[in-house]
Amino acid sequence: MTTLITNIKELLQIRDASVNKVSGKEMKHLPSLKNAFLVIENDVITDFGEMKDLPNTKADKQINAKGKMVLPSWCDSHTHIVYAGNREQEFVDRINGLSYEEIANRGGGILNSAKTLQNTSEDELYKQSIIRVKEVMKLGTGALEIKSGYGLTTEAELKMLRVAKRIEKNFPLLVKTTFLGAHALPSEFKNKKNEYLDLVINDMLPKVAKENLADYIDVFCEKGYFSLEDTERILKAGKQYNLIPKIHVNQFNAFGGVALGVKHNALSVDHLEELNTADITSLKGSNTIPVALPSCSYFLSIPYTPARQLIDAGLPLALATDYNPGSTPSGNMNFVVSTACIKMKMTPEEAINAATINGAYAMGLSNECGSITKGKKANLIITKEVPSYGFLPYAFGNNHIDSVILAGKVIS
Ligand code: NIG
Ligand code: FE
Repeated sequence: MTTLITNIKELLQIRDASVNKVSGKEMKHLPSLKNAFLVIENDVITDFGEMKDLPNTKADKQINAKGKMVLPSWCDSHTHIVYAGNREQEFVDRINGLSYEEIANRGGGILNSAKTLQNTSEDELYKQSIIRVKEVMKLGTGALEIKSGYGLTTEAELKMLRVAKRIEKNFPLLVKTTFLGAHALPSEFKNKKNEYLDLVINDMLPKVAKENLADYIDVFCEKGYFSLEDTERILKAGKQYNLIPKIHVNQFNAFGGVALGVKHNALSVDHLEELNTADITSLKGSNTIPVALPSCSYFLSIPYTPARQLIDAGLPLALATDYNPGSTPSGNMNFVVSTACIKMKMTPEEAINAATINGAYAMGLSNECGSITKGKKANLIITKEVPSYGFLPYAFGNNHIDSVILAGKVIS
């Protein structure tokens, strides 16, 4: 099956296969071709170029993209999209003056979601989760990282990851899964944190590995959750099963989690709303990519990750949604890209790089997606007729997507 897209006003994010991420000043550039065509064979990008060089390809399907932009679909490298129920009541509680921390301290927050999920069957969890998956696909997401962490019992953590695996199998998305058993301390383990860590390490982890349910391991390294010492224990245990770290750090407090992640070769360190110079220094020269989650900052009214400091220090930066019921009930990468420009002072080029090629890196998918590169998966966004790509983040909150192609097929 050959699909030919013609008359593309501008084809964005054209990269050589050797480019796996962009850092610092390079993020200011978004290589593109004007008046372009693109050829898809089955689910792979096989050719592209300027219309004047259009080959005499026999296409089974032709799409005229006159006036429209084509770019790689968003790579959302940090989500908790598999969850049960919602936390609308806590949203109202926060409006009425309670803080995120106060809500968590009285048994709400992650523990609230865990209780709901434990009482939800695997089929029902799948049913609820795929409503969100279908929604983010329509919003242009083509690669999705999915975490566990709302189970907090062996059975419920495995249930979450099995649902994530079912999503991977049944949808044309690229999916990576992350085991986040150390997301919060269940109330049964109050004052017995080491016993819970034992359960995560000696019971959950071997079972997750045996069923091949996870690519990565995550810990919520934060005051009141898991310390540096706890985090290190979990990361070392994960290493025994070849699980690479991707960790939650510096959401509310900066106390060395970034350097710890770098020390353990984390693929990414995520959140970073609080960041100090030592954190930036530790990231320099490492293979660990920082990931910012501006929708979380927006929803919780907490600081935005200081993107300028990171990028101006020559570092790469990725953007993701953090889609979850507590801190970010939104999986809209278009909103993330806009908010990064508006609130974090990233240029449209930087934000689009952060949400595509750098997002792919942050989930270990550099070879599969994140750019217009021959041989990569044909996961694409075709925009409506827009004046330029800068219009996408500029006209925030509007839907600029005409259609989405995943694995070579237009999704309905
Ligand atoms: O990334 N920070 C830790 N975990 C999630 C939110 C947890 C929740 O409130 O349910 C996050 O923001
Ligand atoms: Fe998160």
